[in-house]
Amino acid sequence: MLSPEEMLTFYYPDIYGNCPIDLELLGYKLTTHHLFSVPMKLKDLLKDELSDRELDHLIQSYDLVGDIAITQIPAELTHREKLIGEAIIATNKRIRVVAKRDGFYQGDFRTIPLTIIAGEDRKETEHVEFGVRLQLNPELVYFSVRSSTERKRIAELVEPGEDILVMFSGIAPYPLIINKFSQARSIVGIESNPLAHNYGTRNLTLNKVKNSIELFWGDVTDVVPEIDRKFQRIIMPLPTASRDYLPVALECLSPGGTIHFYDFQPVGSYSASLDTINHLCRDSGRQVLSSSPVVCGHTSPGINRVCLDTLIG
Ligand SMILES: C[S@@+](CC[C@H](N)C(=O)[O-])C[C@H]1O[C@@H](n2cnc3c(N)ncnc32)[C@H](O)[C@@H]1O
Repeated sequence: MLSPEEMLTFYYPDIYGNCPIDLELLGYKLTTHHLFSVPMKLKDLLKDELSDRELDHLIQSYDLVGDIAITQIPAELTHREKLIGEAIIATNKRIRVVAKRDGFYQGDFRTIPLTIIAGEDRKETEHVEFGVRLQLNPELVYFSVRSSTERKRIAELVEPGEDILVMFSGIAPYPLIINKFSQARSIVGIESNPLAHNYGTRNLTLNKVKNSIELFWGDVTDVVPEIDRKFQRIIMPLPTASRDYLPVALECLSPGGTIHFYDFQPVGSYSASLDTINHLCRDSGRQVLSSSPVVCGHTSPGINRVCLDTLIG
């Protein structure tokens, strides 16, 4: 039996592609998830190789990061993983490597161990998201293909001339997507994992970005006071701990600015996140003017990844 923390880390991003439809009735605005699923096809390919019992355990979905398919192999199928990996390669010409998750999302850097089960022996790849090129090693840095529509959603909210702060910027997908799809004046990203930061700077070069994005390596708690700037919009994509950094974000948010606050909450509820924001705003002498929740993923059946788009006076 998994603990709640293990549930979160194991399933985030999760293996379930679809939000339950009743979320819309509960007032959430849903975004699409990018789950690459191969309904029936993988099972068809393996139906003569695996027993009926083994086929029942088979997880048919995988995330496609560049040319690496990342899947999960249940313990009952470990002895069959090479066969399954080769079948996954046969489902899609783009796939050159198949890796399985070999543990939970862990540590401050939110990384997950991966083991290659088929294909080429490498973990570095290049992923393209809405035309933005992103190089990464998905074992050494956090990156979720399932957040792509959420990143684009945020970019489309940006007004011309805004100064943007992306806390926890990883390999820089938010800065690059915002840069491509908005007329922001400046974009700052802060990331503490040195390997993710290095991929971020490499990705700026790869996408021929010159001055519009600045990336800083370090802890947001240290870097925000050092750079001493104000932002009209702050993105906080660290749902496991965004609340710990909200006071730092409030220090550099202009009056009337927006915070995109990511959190994990039970399906149908976001009041605890809003209570946290209200409480911390009051402590900092600020006021929540409006806040609307957007469901942008889920970690396990019953737990959503929610973004509260929050306007703060
Ligand atoms: C959930 S990931 C999101 C990464 C990226 N924004 C994306 O969408 O792919 C959170 C990131 O925050 C980084 N991180 C965690 N704590 C941090 C801190 N105190 N300061 C700066 N970065 C931090 C982690 O290393 C990780 O790359």
